Formats: sequence, structure tokens, C-alpha cells
Amino acid sequence: MSADDKCYVTHLECSATGEKHDADTLHTVSRAGKPLLVRYDLDGVKASLTKERLARRPAEMWRYRELLPMRRRNDIVSLGEPMTPLIPLPAMARKLGGGEILVKDEGRMPTGSFKARGLAVAVAMLKSFGVTRAAMPTAGNAGAALAAYCSRAGIETYVFCPEDAPEVTVREIALQGAKTWRVNGLINHCGAVVAAGTEEMGWYDVSTLKEPYRIEGKKTMGLEIAEQLGWDVPDVVFYPTGGGTGLIGMWKAFEELSALGLIGDKRPRMVAVQSTRCSPLVKAFDAGHREVMEPWDPVTTNLHGVRVPKPFGDRLCLQVMRDSGGFGSAVDDDEVAEARLEVAREDGLHLGPEGTACFVAYRQELKRGRVDPKDRVVLFNCASGLKSEMPPMTRHLDRHAKIDFKAL
Ligand SMILES: Cc1ncc(COP(=O)(O)O)c(C=O)c1O
Repeated sequence: MSADDKCYVTHLECSATGEKHDADTLHTVSRAGKPLLVRYDLDGVKASLTKERLARRPAEMWRYRELLPMRRRNDIVSLGEPMTPLIPLPAMARKLGGGEILVKDEGRMPTGSFKARGLAVAVAMLKSFGVTRAAMPTAGNAGAALAAYCSRAGIETYVFCPEDAPEVTVREIALQGAKTWRVNGLINHCGAVVAAGTEEMGWYDVSTLKEPYRIEGKKTMGLEIAEQLGWDVPDVVFYPTGGGTGLIGMWKAFEELSALGLIGDKRPRMVAVQSTRCSPLVKAFDAGHREVMEPWDPVTTNLHGVRVPKPFGDRLCLQVMRDSGGFGSAVDDDEVAEARLEVAREDGLHLGPEGTACFVAYRQELKRGRVDPKDRVVLFNCASGLKSEMPPMTRHLDRHAKIDFKAL
């Protein structure tokens, strides 16, 4: 085994009880029924993952391999996962009079969304454990990533989408080889279908936080941000939160980097961005609850990534919000639709609706005073704007008629 192949995973740990689970067996949730977290020999990682070594590695998410769970380099299933850029929004920053606004543009990942990070790692692990069939409930983007990576790894996939999931992503999932269904319900109803079919179909349930490895892939977003900022962290991170894997994953990244001595004790305040039409985490946080007491109902938001009435990882998300000194911010869908045009026209960056929700949340919280004008903030654009519907363009020009150019 070469040094590149060394795996530093020591065990999996129940996020609720801390009970250890063997890392050489394929698990779903812990024996207590809660999400499992991957733990590493951080002393071993420290000796290998140095800033100097990192600087010589390719600009891709696998550069952090010591902090990833693959047991052999050969298990990696890759479609080319670049480090995604942090893009400033100077026009918006001038307009709002706040600090530096940086967009982590995840639309550049394979399948056009950050879901590629989690699913690339999860599928690598499924491959290494010899899984041949997987299933998932999805708002769209996760299913697209699962379909792509599983097709590449030769794993059969069954994907269940809410009836009103965006057409383009549902088609993308089917095109990439998954057996795809629309289900008359929300994502939790799709999750129930997956759970109900597990015994009969023998598929592995890749639902958010019901397997241990997607968090590890999502964690690379936090690792990247720290490295891109010269081993520093921003003051505030705005993250559009549905299931919350990214929020939890990034927090884990900062803790691990700090334990490795690569960053100090400073942590960003983590803000969970949701819609006023589905904000279970914001409501629970504001009420001082440690979990979402009841599923949000009715869910009417058009921000598909956050249409999750009661996330399975609610306790972990709320804990990150609390421990980081962060909070929850619920935004108005109509304001998001307008702001998407504003950012695209003034800063030239086409954010998806969920990414735009982060911008609206930042603007709102700057006004409310929960964010300081001096703060450097990172907003997550989790998927390419091209994956979501755009306002129609209706103007037509008759090339045979005389064109009044001044009137164009
Ligand atoms: C574009 C987009 N933004 C945000 C989210 C929410 O991500 P998470 O499940 O990590 O909270 C999703 C998930 O479906 C998404 O597709």
C-alpha cells in the first residue's frame, strides 16, 4: 500500500450517544438510530496533511484524502471534482455598505451542484463495500449526483422525487441511468417509500444522514474555504439548509482543521437559511428548542433545496447554529426571485434560487444588525442557476422588417 492509499479512519461514532461503531462494516444509522460520524486518527493525519504538501496537490476535492474515508485510492469514483471558486460580489457589497461578500459557487461541480461532493464519497464507499443497488428520496440535485456516480460505478439506482421537483433535475436523474419516479408527496414521503422498500429490494438507503459518508464529502466545502482564505475562516457563513448535511459537514471540517493546527480557534457563525414558507429549523432555533418539534405544514416554498419539513439531522443542525453563535434566517420567496435578477444584472453572477436566498438573508440580517457591516461573509450557491427555471424572455425581432435600433 502506498502512502497515498493510507486510510486514517479509526471508527464511526454515534452523533447522539458517542457509541463507537466498526468502520470496516457498512452501516446506515447508529444502533441508537441516529446519524453516524466518521472519526480519524488525527495525529496520523497531522503528519501527512501539511500545508506544503497540500499546496502541491491538484486543485480537486480529493486533495484532502487523509480526511476522507476511502480505504483505497482505487475506490474513488470521479467525474472531475474541482475546488470551487470564492467569487466576490463587489456591486452588491457597495450597494449594501457591508463587508466583503464571497460566493462559494458550487454550480461548477459535476451534475451542477454541491451534491456531487457528498455523493462522490458515498458512492466510493458503496463500491468498496460491494453494494450493487442504492435508493434515495431527493428534491432533485442529490438524485442527479447519485445517478451519475452510481452509473459510473456500476451500481443500480432507484430515485424517488416529490411530484413538484424541478423538471430539469428529474429528467437529469433519469437520463443518467437511475430508475426514477415522481411521488405524490414531499421529500419525507419519498423517504418513507425508500424505507418501506429496503427489505424487499435489498437496496442501500442513501437518504440524507442515514448513511455516514455524505457528510465527509460535504465537509470538503469547509476544508476548501479555510485553505482558500489562507488558512482562515470567514466571519459568517450563510447556508441554504434543507437536510443540513453541509452545515454539519463544514462544522466538522473546521473542528478537524483546528485539531490539526491548520486553523486557530476562530469559527464562522453558521447561519441556516430557509424560506418563510418552510423554516422548521429557524422556528425551532428561535424557540430555543433542541429539535424540530413538529414537521412544517404546509410547505409552499419554491426553494426546492429547503423543502424539508423536518430534517433527520435537526439536532445536529441546531447544535451547529448554537455552538457557532449563528442563527436561522427565513427569507421571502418573492424577494429571492427579484434578487436573483439583481445579482445577475449587477454582478454578473447567476445564482440559483437557494443561493440567492443566502444573499437575501445576508441583506436582511445586515439590516437587522445580526451581521456586522465589517463581517466578511461566505454565501453558498449550492447549484448552478441554470438548473432552475428562469423568467421567460419574450422579445422577438423580425429581421425582414426595418429595425429601429435606437428603440431596442
Ligand atoms: C440547491 C440546493 N440548495 C440547498 C440544499 C440543501 O442542502 P442540505 O441538504 O445540505 O441542507 C439542496 C438540497 O437538496 C439543494 O439542492
